[in-house]
Amino acid sequence: MSEKLEKARLYEIEEAKNIPQEEKPAFHVSAPVGWINDPNGFSVFKGKVHLFYQYHPYSRDWGPMHWGHSVTEDMIRWEQLPTALAPDQEYDREGCFSGSAIEADGKQALIYTGVTTEKLPDGKEEVRQNQCLAWGDGKDYVKAEKNPIVTGDMLPEKCSRVDFRDPKVWEDNGTYHMLVGCRSEEIPGQVVLFSSKDLKEWKFETILAENSTGEIGVMWECPDFFPLGDKYVLICSPQHMRAKGYEFHNGHNSLYFTGDYDSEKHTFEKDAPVSLDYGLDFYAPQTTKLPDGRRILIAWMKSWDACVIPDGQKWQGMMTLPRELRYMNGRLYQNPVEELKQYRKNPCCLKDQEISGTVQFDEVRGRMLDLTVEIENGQFDEFCLELAHNMEYTTTYTYNRKKQIMEVDRTCCGVTKDVICRRIWKVTEGKETLKLRFILDRQSIELFVNDGEQVVTTAICTPMEADEIVFSCDGKAKVNVEKYEIVV
Ligand code: FRU
Repeated sequence: MSEKLEKARLYEIEEAKNIPQEEKPAFHVSAPVGWINDPNGFSVFKGKVHLFYQYHPYSRDWGPMHWGHSVTEDMIRWEQLPTALAPDQEYDREGCFSGSAIEADGKQALIYTGVTTEKLPDGKEEVRQNQCLAWGDGKDYVKAEKNPIVTGDMLPEKCSRVDFRDPKVWEDNGTYHMLVGCRSEEIPGQVVLFSSKDLKEWKFETILAENSTGEIGVMWECPDFFPLGDKYVLICSPQHMRAKGYEFHNGHNSLYFTGDYDSEKHTFEKDAPVSLDYGLDFYAPQTTKLPDGRRILIAWMKSWDACVIPDGQKWQGMMTLPRELRYMNGRLYQNPVEELKQYRKNPCCLKDQEISGTVQFDEVRGRMLDLTVEIENGQFDEFCLELAHNMEYTTTYTYNRKKQIMEVDRTCCGVTKDVICRRIWKVTEGKETLKLRFILDRQSIELFVNDGEQVVTTAICTPMEADEIVFSCDGKAKVNVEKYEIVV
């Protein structure tokens, strides 16, 4: 084991002792110590679901990237494993950036971007991002001798060697495929496809998709590509994207294209992009397929531009709840994995409650919850729900029935930095009932609208004593409420 890796492994054990577990999310993966960003290597190995992540153990800010590592049997309770990768080689000395994992020949292969700098003929230094391989047993990994396995020199001439990262690898009929985010001199964002028989020798196939209109951001980070229903889905996270109507409000966005893929010719006919999430804290999602056939997505529950943590907190970064993806009615549906239901305790069901003015129910409160509120079409313009609420704090969800718009507002959730706190999105028109399912953990609220048609992911930093839930309506609305505590 390299000195750098050993140092990280010792450091995380010691430093974790200084972090009170009560401030950590109860059922979301979070930084063991220091900082985490993108999920990496989300995959199944020897019957367990593994999740790696971009990790800088030594401070709560981004720094030279390691790969942290957690494992789970049910995607709700996670066990932390020792740091998997450290930037300890010449070809990855600036960082082990995002990538994926796959089981091959009984071993676990990690495929990641090694970042380094190269001296150019004119003496200047320039960043190089190349794809690298490491083999392991689910805990300890050895980097391949022939790293890097895929370099920018294998790309068409105009493609960038500087922004060429985040390999997603999958296997299909005995061939491995690798999709990597990139850009070129002419096209600001693209994804490029390679193939291999053994994960070691790779061949460039094609540019699978690109931002030919120039409207879909610049560098397309963290691509993913998989079949779902009778379609293929391409996910990516374009940087610096302009908003369009109610879509793509996050700057660095995460979006999906559905389309038809010809796996012989490697062509992908894609439809228009759609936002994957309408909240404030969601980026760099990655998916995996479980042995039972479910396609599960997990994302970084933070954005590059916002810091939503209590002052003094020593760690930063969480993952979303794993979500099951389905393709129906021409769109992607996302819902919390079924396994969450095993942890639901103390049910409370209220039927046909009339809300007029401001109402609270004694039994409807809490901060680790699975809460569903169905709002029936009624005589009102605005309906409002406040969560993690008390005299000082609140996070508000407002439904404007006439405009069919919703808004999340976390201005008073405890943030002490000048971060974005409000976001609006358009709900599907013409429904009799609006169904809102909120999953609350200590530092987050994920809202699943209308059985997963839309998801709105938001980090909060509100003290746990703010646990009230307030309903209000400017006319008369009828609601059904179903509430469970989540106990893990
Ligand atoms: C996305 C990203 C990736 C990169 C990683 C670095 O959030 O910028 O493109 O691999 O983070 O930590």
